[in-house]
Amino acid sequence: ANVKEVHRTGFHFQPPENWINDPNGPMIYKGLYHLFYQYNPKGAVWGNIVWAHSVSKDLINWEFLEPAIWPSKPFDINGCWSGSVTILPGNRPIILYTGLDPQKRQVQNYAIPKNLSDPYLREWIKPDNNPLVVPGEGMNATAFRDPTTAWRVDGHWKMLVGTKRKHRGMTVLYRSRDFMKWTKAQHPFHSKEHTGMWECPDFFPVSLHSENGLDTSVIGENVKHVFKVSLDLTRYDYYTVGTYDKNKDRYIPDNTSVDGWGGLRYDYGNFYASKSFFDDVKNRRILWGWANESDTATHDVEKGWAGIQLIPRTVRLDSSRKQLVQWPVEELETLRWNNVELSNQKLTKGNKVEIKGITAGQADVEVTFKIPSLEKAEPFDPSWVNAQELCAHKGSHVQGGVGPFGLLTLASKNLEEYTPVFFRVFKSKDKHVVLMCSDATSSSLKQGLYKPSFAGFVDVDLADGKLSLRSLIDHSVVESFGAGGKTCISSRVYPILAVMKDAHLFAFNNGSESVTIEKLNAWSMVKPKQMNN
Ligand code: FRU
Repeated sequence: ANVKEVHRTGFHFQPPENWINDPNGPMIYKGLYHLFYQYNPKGAVWGNIVWAHSVSKDLINWEFLEPAIWPSKPFDINGCWSGSVTILPGNRPIILYTGLDPQKRQVQNYAIPKNLSDPYLREWIKPDNNPLVVPGEGMNATAFRDPTTAWRVDGHWKMLVGTKRKHRGMTVLYRSRDFMKWTKAQHPFHSKEHTGMWECPDFFPVSLHSENGLDTSVIGENVKHVFKVSLDLTRYDYYTVGTYDKNKDRYIPDNTSVDGWGGLRYDYGNFYASKSFFDDVKNRRILWGWANESDTATHDVEKGWAGIQLIPRTVRLDSSRKQLVQWPVEELETLRWNNVELSNQKLTKGNKVEIKGITAGQADVEVTFKIPSLEKAEPFDPSWVNAQELCAHKGSHVQGGVGPFGLLTLASKNLEEYTPVFFRVFKSKDKHVVLMCSDATSSSLKQGLYKPSFAGFVDVDLADGKLSLRSLIDHSVVESFGAGGKTCISSRVYPILAVMKDAHLFAFNNGSESVTIEKLNAWSMVKPKQMNN
């Protein structure tokens, strides 16, 4: 098989060819999920951006439609950039998106379906009263983009646009009664110094007492709010949990939640420009994120494609109320077929067991480890604040007390190549510190790739001695969920030996304390239908 095929994903969202970036305007309409996304119809590098359009009944099997919007009017002639969908009363979806005008100013436009009785919403109209919002006096016209889904409070619509003032990242809020005439709020909705341009803001409520998701307009005592930005400077998505003051139209993060790159990440790997929406059929909030390639642009042109959307995740507030938990949508499980199961398998120091009988290059693995004792945990040095540096330093080979233990994904038979996803437990003053790593260092013998040691800490109580891990393995992506989705890490890797039938999967332990695989389930994943690629 050639390069084009071996690294193409089997069950992650990818159009048949070309470049993709941000997910745009996800929604459910008349029983169909819609996903728009930034797309270059002409090649495998960024450029010529249109809103490509796909629909699905189940978020897994997709049909690719003609682009919904492309540059055609003065207000978007230089590009149709990211944006969102809002469902207006009477079940009328409306797109808000950023257009680049003839002066390359970033302006906010809208588009509406031509025919609301067509559940595919194939055709979109851009009315003549566009643009709706232009950068005002003193605003940065080349950093003013990515309108959010609007929400409604007391008869007023509100929406956010990302921007910056010098190096201060911020979102500005606009208000409207009729969705057409928008007025800028005096104060930024939220901002933070030295964070640079805030791309693709997202703002939504989460329930305090239920696992269900909420419509974007829900406010009140039973909810907290989540605010996310994509930082152009670091290329990661950061969120905080906080409070929305509807009278002042300002957002205040909780003191357990930090803005900027000291803050929480949806994913401690490759995951950017994400966008969420409320699924009112299954009462859940779903989050879509984009993962770019970590090979070279030359390689992308050779492959003829670049970029994937990660598996959509349900998001809800953790019971600690300090963070979110994310989990792949349940529909993904319909792709599982032959199952292998292991239970009560002890892994002593240096042990490695192969999980045989599945297509290890295209698989879903869930495992729960049981740690009999934490006594041997290595001491934690409080200066280790950067998880990624710690993982680079203490890789899967570096023997520890409790851990490293976990999975070796996309491994070649003799381990010339492997992408380990693993935990290491440290002991600090009065608690344990859990590190989760997805280390691409040994993922490929190929030179010139970006091979980061992605990692995040896991805020988990080890009282029951259990740690769980789920990894979605799909040829050139490993998407992992630690401790039920408290810490997520996605990584793009390009093995040259561990491909197709030559990809293997192992569980391992390199800690001096033995650990037990309490239960492991692994499945081959079938390729979704209708992918027409
Ligand atoms: C984020 C982003 C957005 C912009 C779009 C352009 O990846 O830069 O800010 O709208 O991509 O494709």
